[in-house]
Amino acid sequence: MKIIRHKAELRAQTRNWRAAGETIGVVPTMGALHQGHLGLVSAACARADRVIVTLFVNPRQFNNPEDLEKYPQTEGADVEKLAPFEIDVLYIPEPGQVYPQGFATTVSVSGVSEGLCGADRPGHFDGVATVVTKLLLQTDADFAFFGEKDFQQLQVVRRLVADLDINTQIIGCPTIREASGLALSSRNVRLGQAAQKIAPLISATLSDAAKALAAGQPVAAVLNHARQSLRDGGISSIDYLEFRRESDFAPIADSATSGRLLVAVWLDGVRLIDNIRVDIN
Ligand code: PAJ
Repeated sequence: MKIIRHKAELRAQTRNWRAAGETIGVVPTMGALHQGHLGLVSAACARADRVIVTLFVNPRQFNNPEDLEKYPQTEGADVEKLAPFEIDVLYIPEPGQVYPQGFATTVSVSGVSEGLCGADRPGHFDGVATVVTKLLLQTDADFAFFGEKDFQQLQVVRRLVADLDINTQIIGCPTIREASGLALSSRNVRLGQAAQKIAPLISATLSDAAKALAAGQPVAAVLNHARQSLRDGGISSIDYLEFRRESDFAPIADSATSGRLLVAVWLDGVRLIDNIRVDIN
């Protein structure tokens, strides 16, 4: 695994692969790698001839300066975690390689990036859309792997790739969880002991609500009950808990329609998100 920090060097590498007829897969990350990221890496290794993992803590997607400041930066440990995989390049661009002086372009996706996390984190998805567009172009990838953990992000990326004619296939990968059900996240390390005990309630609440919806219970009652369960369990700050259509996040009011339950809460000063698909037969 070669570490590359400059886009010109990356381009020289991808040109050689292209000339040899090899396919390229990319896994964009902000580092602080855990098994959730590594699931994407495995999927990329299985699918593409050449694999690039990118590590860039993108300042433009942090709407909260404190969140950016506290974001874990663990480059040495990340390199070690990637060692067992057949990765060709770990791309760690210097900030100027992504946002050169005079940078003045923003990729902004309407529709799917509005509401849910888009409403609570102004500018966040513009930052994500801009950096992902750049990373896909810089890596010249045939395939890019994203986690369903960040389901709204996945849909935003799918939209921008279709709209901007970017020749990369977007592959969504399932959420990796702890044994407790808690979705793995780089931010989990910031949870104190008491919060760590409470956090599995988030996924448990989603699973229970999904079962209730699949059993035909009314949507509004199920959502209210789920919100109350979170509060009763010690999670009082809920940004949203919603049942939405996957394609455009339109609210679903009747329990006969398949969709996705999505939640964002605050615990110990950390914002945690999760989601689950609800299949109605
Ligand atoms: P980051 O939070 O580092 O996540 C990188 C990728 O790992 C994303 O596609 C995310 O959905 C996926 N991921 C995180 N936790 C996961 C889990 N428990 N199971 C499965 N996949 C998981 O998401 C970002 O970085 C950034 O917004 C980025 C796309 C890199 C743009 O800066």
